[in-house]
Amino acid sequence: MVEPQNAKPDTSDQPSDAGRRIFLKTMIVVAAGAALAGVLKGAIGEIIAPQVGLSSFPTLKIVDSSGSPILFNDIPVNTPTTWLFYYPLSNDPNFLIKLGNSSGSPISVGPAKVTIPADGSTYVFPGGTGPEGSQAIVSYSAICQHLGCVPPEIHFYPPGQAIPGTPYGASDNVYGIIHCSCHGSTYDPKNGAAVLTGPTSRPLPNTVLKYNPDGTISALSMVGPTIYGKASNLTGGNPFPKGQTTTTVTNTNEA
Ligand code: FES
Repeated sequence: MVEPQNAKPDTSDQPSDAGRRIFLKTMIVVAAGAALAGVLKGAIGEIIAPQVGLSSFPTLKIVDSSGSPILFNDIPVNTPTTWLFYYPLSNDPNFLIKLGNSSGSPISVGPAKVTIPADGSTYVFPGGTGPEGSQAIVSYSAICQHLGCVPPEIHFYPPGQAIPGTPYGASDNVYGIIHCSCHGSTYDPKNGAAVLTGPTSRPLPNTVLKYNPDGTISALSMVGPTIYGKASNLTGGNPFPKGQTTTTVTNTNEA
């Protein structure tokens, strides 16, 4: 067959057009990739909390919900109501407990050497806080060291109260016991929240308090194991706002 004399070759697929299409496709892929990377970065940021924190322990005065300082006599002895405050970061709950005997009189809680069963190491619990001769107030992390249960699962049982599911009957509980109902761990608040029964193999971290000359109480630091689930007591959460000098108690009625 003879080609028409004036027929022109088809130039629609010449290299310049093909290159343009490849370039456009490449740009679309790059743009989609960049968008996906942005989405993933945001999602990962949601999953992995930034390791914000502090470089040293803050000193925070313990106050009530109206901002008034909690005084020694404001805290009931042996109360089954859970008094919680947050320290050293704003999402770290701690018990505030005034220990007493079975008659309801405050006791003086002395220092104690505490063993960490997990590794056999020891540390010194400095004892309770309060006026001379009446250092009855103690504070511990309110996050169970076994698997992280928090109040009301973990809470303080006053003296004379039997603890269901444990060997501790009413007469065994002389100065109060902290018990976690998730899996049965018990801690001794009179002796640095040492482990009484597992499955936990770590005591509750002790929040060190100071009794101030004006009768107020401040949180100063922590000793013992690291708070459950954290690499350091000073990171892994949200610091209090800059310049804040107080931490507020919340009371939880659970008796
Ligand atoms: S989380 Fe408290 S005993 Fe398991």
